[in-house]
Amino acid sequence: MPAKRKPLISGNWKMNLNHFEAIQIVQKLSYLLKKDDYAAVDVTVHPPFTDLRSIQTVLESDRIPVGLGAQNCHWEEKGAFTGEVSPAMLAKLNVGHVITGHSERRQLFCETDEDVNRKVKAILKYGMTPILCCGETLEEREAGTTEEKVSSQVRAGLAGVGADQVATLVIAYEPIWAIGTGRNATPEDAQAVCKAIRGVVSEEAGTEAGSSVRIQYGGSVKGANAAELLAQADIDGALVGGASLDPEDFARIVQSAHSA
Ligand code: 13P
Repeated sequence: MPAKRKPLISGNWKMNLNHFEAIQIVQKLSYLLKKDDYAAVDVTVHPPFTDLRSIQTVLESDRIPVGLGAQNCHWEEKGAFTGEVSPAMLAKLNVGHVITGHSERRQLFCETDEDVNRKVKAILKYGMTPILCCGETLEEREAGTTEEKVSSQVRAGLAGVGADQVATLVIAYEPIWAIGTGRNATPEDAQAVCKAIRGVVSEEAGTEAGSSVRIQYGGSVKGANAAELLAQADIDGALVGGASLDPEDFARIVQSAHSA
């Protein structure tokens, strides 16, 4: 059996923490995570835009090997797009990973698959890695259309992206009914969908890309349930919301990725 991909644990802080609070969280996290953790697991944090510069400074000046991430961006480089932030601006802050197509953006801000595809391409163009999110609603799960929904989001998100670039990106499977509800998917259900996603990537971009792409699970991941999710063959990490605001629980999640 080929070696599993290096796990990636990402903290999506959503619209929480001002830049002073954010600095404290990162400093606490850096006390809790050790060399062994960074050797075994890639870790990113995704603060709100207003915190990015402060967190970049702390990570770089204290040489903390946590990657800086963003939660969203526009697809254009610059221009008359009031309120938006461009991928070029994020790249200048040494942002490495950008979440795109999160279900909250799709549902609350009407982001379409086409928007998400434009963003994926723009993020790659500026040398950053997209974390492309997909996931079904409770109604879709109950109707048995989970794989259909998730597959179509992944195909649309990857449209026109070269196989070599697909191989480098991250896909996050986040069932919408599991986000912020305390109700996580069972490890077996999450594994089945992540395996199906890997199959879609292989169909779209070849088996090499399929076996290289990292697939995260997200939705009520905590220190207490991370190990069994991360032990699944096709789950290569976690996209963590609420628990990433608590450095101790987030560190536990990172540490449970070691043995997975
Ligand atoms: P929770 O971990 O709070 O359920 O959020 C998951 C999520 O949406 C991460 O992007």
